[in-house]
Amino acid sequence: EKGGYEHFMLKEIHEQPKAVRETMSARVAKDHSAIIMEELKWNKEYLDSFQKIFVVACGTAYNAALVGKYYIEKLVRIPVEVDIASEFRYRSPIIDDRTLTIVVSQSGETSDTLAALKESKRLGAKTLAITNVVGSSIAREADQVIYTWAGPEIAVASTKAYTTQLITMFMLAMYMAGIKGTVTPERTKELLTQLHQIPAQISETLEDVEPIKTFAKEYGFNEDVFFIGRSLDYAVALEGSLKLKEISYIHAEAYAAGELKHGTLALIIEGVPVIALATQKNVYEKTLSNIKEVKARDAVVIGIASANDSELEKYVDHVIKVPETDELLIPILTVVPLQLLAYYAAITRQCDVDKPRNLAKSVTVE
Ligand code: F6R
Repeated sequence: EKGGYEHFMLKEIHEQPKAVRETMSARVAKDHSAIIMEELKWNKEYLDSFQKIFVVACGTAYNAALVGKYYIEKLVRIPVEVDIASEFRYRSPIIDDRTLTIVVSQSGETSDTLAALKESKRLGAKTLAITNVVGSSIAREADQVIYTWAGPEIAVASTKAYTTQLITMFMLAMYMAGIKGTVTPERTKELLTQLHQIPAQISETLEDVEPIKTFAKEYGFNEDVFFIGRSLDYAVALEGSLKLKEISYIHAEAYAAGELKHGTLALIIEGVPVIALATQKNVYEKTLSNIKEVKARDAVVIGIASANDSELEKYVDHVIKVPETDELLIPILTVVPLQLLAYYAAITRQCDVDKPRNLAKSVTVE
């Protein structure tokens, strides 16, 4: 059942090219000119009626929602607020019939997410679920559903659900942009052509595991690990740190790189591992200066960069490179080495990878 892999998590990490390909198939026009969402059938009038979008979720799905906010705001120019489901419900969110609430849930059964969805409906919002389980409670409750086609995810730590959620968020934003006319046809073609290459590029990323195994052995017994990045890299840093915490029990924190000097820099001392993501052009130089700040405190820095980057390696101790793609899509690639790092760190520490202590796959209690 584990298809020759030692754990479900490793199997599911390796299933990502297929999961992503299946989630995309039938939704990307053959000539890469548009995204097709048969399940939505939205028009401009419907989209124009939304003044605000909420994306609500828990855990890894919340981390995917953060990327979704970036996509929608950048490509569609509608304000998006992301919230943790257990917070959203209790803070009297400002919602009416000009609101779209998107909930993201792999299982479709997370009770806080389901409750947030019901609360949104009660207040008059239109609702859309992004879920991996057909006929789940969240799928049944929402007005509309987009399924991720990741296939069953067994390991408690979510991997292929996350990457398919990112792909879905991207396709949804592009679909909306197509209706709103906020992205030019040339740029659409460029982005969808890159999107098409993502599954093969994930496979490429999966081939290069030896350096990651080495890092995991080297740093697997450290008490603390920090993840830093800006913009989309920060969202991926949050997911990388969650993965490491939940399966290897290493204390990991993700920080927006620019926020370090407002407190956390005090924790950066000699030998502390810092994983620094630096893939976003408009904040690249800024991230680099943050990396220099942690290097100056003798942190050990592992940089995550795009294949065409020849700068980062001058400032960090090791670099892991992922194939070149548009910087909007690169989170789908940079998360892969972070998943593998968490996996091999957990192996080094002899943790129960598929069933980490205290955690359940689906949280149906509040
Ligand atoms: C982390 C993880 C959890 C889930 C969260 C939401 O690896 O799996 O953080 O992402 O419990 O679950 P779903 O997506 O089923 O609502």
